[in-house]
Amino acid sequence: MSTLLLLGSTGLVGQQLLALALADPAVRQVVAPTRRPLPAQERLLNPQVDFDQLPADAPWWRADAVLCALGTTLRLAGSPEAFRRVDHDYVLAACRLARRAGTPRCGFVSSLGADAHSRGLYLRVKGETERDLQALGFESLSCIRPSLLDGGPRPDKRTGEALALALSRGLMPLLPRRWRPVRTARVAQALYAAVREGRPGLHLIPSEALQP
Ligand SMILES: NC(=O)c1ccc[n+]([C@@H]2O[C@H](COP(=O)([O-])OP(=O)(O)OC[C@H]3O[C@@H](n4cnc5c(N)ncnc54)[C@H](OP(=O)(O)O)[C@@H]3O)[C@@H](O)[C@H]2O)c1
Repeated sequence: MSTLLLLGSTGLVGQQLLALALADPAVRQVVAPTRRPLPAQERLLNPQVDFDQLPADAPWWRADAVLCALGTTLRLAGSPEAFRRVDHDYVLAACRLARRAGTPRCGFVSSLGADAHSRGLYLRVKGETERDLQALGFESLSCIRPSLLDGGPRPDKRTGEALALALSRGLMPLLPRRWRPVRTARVAQALYAAVREGRPGLHLIPSEALQP
């Protein structure tokens, strides 16, 4: 992989993916479109974009792979529709442009339990996004399905998530492996490795594969 497109590069997993990509000697350029600027770094192109009006003609949609760790929460988004717009529509719009431009590989941070038929909003949207990414026809598509993310402080307050994390850390030895919290660094490493390998077809990476 010599050119990479990275979505969600300011988030917990996205920052780890960006660090991996910039540390990879094979990577010549990382394009990380964001809504707020990243600190300048060598080999990083950081266009500021409006995800409601992505620049369809930009030359950088063509890359060797697109990696996506973009997402929000229902509380931050404000409504189920706004949540779906970010976690499904923005992801699909960007990956569609990348695919249309000829990008052959895609890696997507999904979730444990992603299911397009789920009654819960979060898991349903993740499942729908996986399904619709498959329909874009990438030569290689890796969807990683982590349990609760454990990756350091967040800029926004997520009380429920923090409580769930504290509880699951305490119960860790009793929890089935798939439900144990996973380190964001591990999620990024596993997704990066899968995309780098680029095996043809669909690859679902389960949360238990991310445990130490
Ligand atoms: N939290 C968990 O326990 C958990 C578990 C399983 C899977 N996941 C999924 O894993 C993925 C990565 O999670 P994370 O914790 O690394 O995410 P995060 O830290 O919340 O970062 C989310 C990224 O998405 C971008 N984003 C959010 N809303 C946006 C909007 N309206 N327009 C443009 N960009 C927007 C953020 O950009 P800004 O910096 O500009 O906001 C940031 O780059 C997410 O899809 C999440 O659903 C999370």
